[in-house]
Amino acid sequence: MISTAVKKSVQAFKPMPKFELPDYTQKPAIPIRHIAVGFDGKEIDFAFYMNNQFASTFFATLSVFLTYGEDLVIETARYHRDFVKDPLLKQRVTSLIGQEAIHSKLHNEFNDAIAHEAVNFPVKLYRFLGEKFFDNIFLKFPQPLKLSMMAGIEHFTAVLAEYMMKHEKNFYYSNDAKTRAMWMWHMLEESEHKDIAYDVYQLLNGNYALRAAGFFIAFGTILGLIPFSTLFVPVLRQPKDLVTRKFWKDAKRGVALIFSPNDGVFGSTMGQIFDYLRRDFHPNDHDTSAYLEYYKDKLLSEGGAIAPYLVKTFTPPVRH
Ligand SMILES: [Fe+2]
Ligand SMILES: [Fe+2]
Repeated sequence: MISTAVKKSVQAFKPMPKFELPDYTQKPAIPIRHIAVGFDGKEIDFAFYMNNQFASTFFATLSVFLTYGEDLVIETARYHRDFVKDPLLKQRVTSLIGQEAIHSKLHNEFNDAIAHEAVNFPVKLYRFLGEKFFDNIFLKFPQPLKLSMMAGIEHFTAVLAEYMMKHEKNFYYSNDAKTRAMWMWHMLEESEHKDIAYDVYQLLNGNYALRAAGFFIAFGTILGLIPFSTLFVPVLRQPKDLVTRKFWKDAKRGVALIFSPNDGVFGSTMGQIFDYLRRDFHPNDHDTSAYLEYYKDKLLSEGGAIAPYLVKTFTPPVRH
């Protein structure tokens, strides 16, 4: 029923592509990096993010739901790639699909590990909810709306990635090198491919109102459903903690780490998040190329946080 109603309303948003493709010859091709980490539940630091369990719980919850968002991006990008004529943009879409497939795989391995009794994260339940939600609602949406959601999700991961690149030290509070490698590699690649979904949306659809609709769905999921689900994790994980002062102190700091307008991950980036609603917005209006270069240099070369786990790098060929 939801899907029929959504289908009907999406038909009202007529495509109006009048997008001029950027000159992709000026941009480096995007590689797909294969990473093998080998997570072990016993080694995972559950206060990984800035020594704070609550904020780390938010990221763990995000990690579980993210895999479904990534699968939606993969499915949607695959479908639309056939309609993209420009060979370089097509190649970029293949890179996006490849990068997201490995993100999803690695996060699933991390999620398997936090299901271990040493962490006791309710992975099974949250996977069940995520799967039901995506399979019955989001994946049933018509392709134009999924395309717009894909661009919206990618906007959020781009903002998150920029914040994390600017706050590199936040990943060094813990000795958990594996969790650090996963998040840093993921953030690097989110920033690297941040304009692809948007360009495809503008090229194939371009309707502003539909773009805004996809944004609000992504907003509601990432900043509504995921924080809401985070609240129940401590109850399911270690209910006896809830009566301690330590827990509430940690939770208070955790909420600020994510939502404080001063320096919180999402609280302080609200302006940038809503910038997406500007009619002439483009992801590259926020130039992150210097951070990206610095990050690639620092993390992927010998001694870098990602280097020990990097198995191979593959750049998809240009197909005409
Ligand atoms: Fe991703
Ligand atoms: Fe992405």
